[in-house]
Amino acid sequence: MSTSSPTTPLSPPLTAPAAPTPARAARFPAGPAADPAGSREEHRVRSFHARRGRITQAQAAAIDRHWPAWGVELDGAPLDLPGLFGAAGRPEPLPVVLEIGFGMGDATARMAAADPARGILAVDVHTPGQGNLLMLADRLGLTNVRVANGDAIVLLRDMLAPASLAGLRVYFPDPWPKAKHHKRRLIQPSFLDLVLPLLRPGAVVHCATDWEPYAEQMLEVLGAAPQLANQDPAGGFAARPDFRPMTKFERQGLAKGHVVRDLLFTRVPDLP
Ligand SMILES: C[S@@+](CC[C@H](N)C(=O)[O-])C[C@H]1O[C@@H](n2cnc3c(N)ncnc32)[C@H](O)[C@@H]1O
Repeated sequence: MSTSSPTTPLSPPLTAPAAPTPARAARFPAGPAADPAGSREEHRVRSFHARRGRITQAQAAAIDRHWPAWGVELDGAPLDLPGLFGAAGRPEPLPVVLEIGFGMGDATARMAAADPARGILAVDVHTPGQGNLLMLADRLGLTNVRVANGDAIVLLRDMLAPASLAGLRVYFPDPWPKAKHHKRRLIQPSFLDLVLPLLRPGAVVHCATDWEPYAEQMLEVLGAAPQLANQDPAGGFAARPDFRPMTKFERQGLAKGHVVRDLLFTRVPDLP
């Protein structure tokens, strides 16, 4: 897979569209909706921070313009992935890779542009990032990106069909460094229990982190699954692949002297 330079930032356009930000609260509330499974699930431990970043006018305008066609609300209803990616005159639906926690979407947009034969379903709870990714998709003319709003756990638990994913990407998930918060880390056995049945044989699981203890946890969790084969023959971390662009979080980690770890695993077929 080729890609453009991983270091060139995809900055937003200098001039925002002139239109005022329309009222859109009813259709697109900031942050994730209530868990459709109800109040018991609602109180489960979450892997994301509740944050309300400032949304720019351009990001809000991108949401207003593109959400009806490219946006997905995580409402718990089964998601028709082939239908979601099969439009735009394609004879065949695209194989779909799920990216959890895309942040501002710069890496997502670059990887989608470099690989138009793959659909990217990108999920995050962060409204400004959703707007930013929609803006980048529009600017780059991407037809292979869809943006989901909500907790990825709802998507994995309730909305995706078995063997429907051709890959999973989790880049720089919140590290939750304090011991009392480790339970909030996304990559843990209960997460993998949800993910594994959704991956088709050959699907690639790609994680990256700059937080060494979390990298070790990822290696332990992914390495313990017999359904996953580590692409590193020595059973360790992978070399940094050139197709994964640099993100703000990675740059910040490197600036602090952290070592960035990539993990690449392949879903093997279930034993008969
Ligand atoms: C540290 S940021 C990394 C963003 C991006 N991958 C990057 O490298 O720049 C982690 C992101 O994951 C998102 N996130 C964490 N848990 C999530 C979940 N369960 N569902 C959806 N998004 C989640 C957060 O909102 C945040 O935007």
